[in-house]
Amino acid sequence: MAQQVRGVIASGRGEPVRIETIIVPDPGPGEAVVQVQACGVCHTDLHYREGGINDDFPFLLGHEAAGVVESVGEGVTEVAPGDFVILNWRAVCGQCRACLRGRPWYCFNTHNATQKMTLLDGTELSPALGIGAFADKTLVAAGQCTKVSAEASPAAAGLLGCGVMAGLGAALNTGNVGRGDTVAVIGCGGVGSAAVMGARLAGAARIIAVDVDARKLDTARGLGATHTVDGRSADVVAAVRELTGGFGADVVIDAVGRPETYEQAFYARDLAGTVVLVGVPTPEMRLDLPLQEVFGRGGSLKSSWYGDCLPSRDFPMLIDLYLQGRLDLDAFVSETITLDGIEEAFAKMHHGDVLRSVVVL
Ligand SMILES: NC(=O)c1ccc[n+]([C@@H]2O[C@H](COP(=O)([O-])OP(=O)(O)OC[C@H]3O[C@@H](n4cnc5c(N)ncnc54)[C@H](O)[C@@H]3O)[C@@H](O)[C@H]2O)c1
Ligand SMILES: [Zn+2]
Ligand SMILES: [Zn+2]
Repeated sequence: MAQQVRGVIASGRGEPVRIETIIVPDPGPGEAVVQVQACGVCHTDLHYREGGINDDFPFLLGHEAAGVVESVGEGVTEVAPGDFVILNWRAVCGQCRACLRGRPWYCFNTHNATQKMTLLDGTELSPALGIGAFADKTLVAAGQCTKVSAEASPAAAGLLGCGVMAGLGAALNTGNVGRGDTVAVIGCGGVGSAAVMGARLAGAARIIAVDVDARKLDTARGLGATHTVDGRSADVVAAVRELTGGFGADVVIDAVGRPETYEQAFYARDLAGTVVLVGVPTPEMRLDLPLQEVFGRGGSLKSSWYGDCLPSRDFPMLIDLYLQGRLDLDAFVSETITLDGIEEAFAKMHHGDVLRSVVVL
């Protein structure tokens, strides 16, 4: 029987979100209904509300979540009712050109639920990133559920579902940071701080955190940054070079995603080094670089989508590290809130007051 639960809906461009009753159908073939336990508030939710992603209102927001599988549809074998899962937005298809070449972390045809959740009047909802987890329950593709150890705190575990994974993966997967590397991270919000942690986990010798907000530099230091650079007062490129023997860092991660930060990343990098762009630019942004420098500096310029993660490989491993005390996911949970606190959480995020507000249900 379809169920009625509470969900946080963005019904029009820039309109404040509202809690409404939504209808969650029973899972069909390949689908699962998940009882949500926690869901982080991510910048992307705000982008949806502002119409910055697309115009498919009304949106059911929320996508950084963990919970318990309540029921599964026909043919579902990867998860079962009662499993503790992190929801992912990369349920790989196994059949696209990326999957067939053995690179499922780039899957170009990821799965979402086929059925639609609706409002009481039947209006179909667009779940944020195919998840929609600011709700008591949500319907997803079974492949969007990644089973992890139930010992993890839902609030911390859910964060691996988006921003924290994006940052960790930018360092570990895309940047391929190795033992002894020097790494600079520009922008130390939730994503950049996770990149700092990822660099530490990988054994980087020197981790330089750059931000324009002193509070973020303090947090980054606590998470493993060995040096900090305040972008308001310092010449970022000169400062990173000075901290790396005059050469620049092996890997520079841009977790802001603006032309000026990308340019800093490009020039703050050692010869043959790597730039990783994980911050998401907007359509009007342009970049102007001397092509001769692009050639002459060598190395690689990469973008990181969702930390190039493979949820089935990365989530359980990272949760194990968390449970062993080697990955402090709790540090990202600045506050826990309830479903009616999303607008306030958006404001705090906008002012840089939090790494993550997490809705706990
Ligand atoms: N690639 C992906 O798959 C992926 C996934 C999730 C989020 N993101 C993106 O990552 C970016 C960061 O997300 P977040 O949640 O950490 O946001 P956030 O707002 O928490 O953090 C951004 C940080 O950048 C700092 N900053 C702003 N301008 C700066 C500048 N010129 N120099 C240095 N620091 C500067 C801010 O002070 C802040 O600390 C966003 O663009 C987000 O959309 C990407
Ligand atoms: Zn695929
Ligand atoms: Zn997100």
